[in-house]
Amino acid sequence: MKSEQEIIQVAAAARENAHTPFSHFKVGAALLTADDEIITGCNVENASYGLTMCAERVAIFKAISEGERKFVKICVVADTEMLTPPCGACRQIIWEFCGDVEVLMANLQGETATLQMSELLPKAFDASFLNSK
Ligand code: THU
Repeated sequence: MKSEQEIIQVAAAARENAHTPFSHFKVGAALLTADDEIITGCNVENASYGLTMCAERVAIFKAISEGERKFVKICVVADTEMLTPPCGACRQIIWEFCGDVEVLMANLQGETATLQMSELLPKAFDASFLNSK
């Protein structure tokens, strides 16, 4: 199984590819599959700001498009003193495709913390509510 250090290192390397001409806030993500593969993402911004895609969603959509379906952990790396958690939109997408996985957060100083998705998105809306009337 991949070590946390390795996952963080891979996410930090992906962060270097971030396209952030507007915010200059680079984020890297690393998604760990049940087969112990890592799929990375970085944030990709757009002059039409709302079209910006976060690092976490880039990683998840890459993974889904490559046929991956089982995930055990997602790592987020940013250069912040307070560790950066996934934004609200990403929490919903992580829940959709990964469920109650571990979210490993890290900064460039080597500080880390792990939270479960159920802590970050309590009472989540998901497919279980559809047709449950
Ligand atoms: N961002 C991410 O990529 N992931 C997060 O968890 C927080 C925010 C990006 C979006 C945007 O490109 C920049 O950070 C500033 O919001």
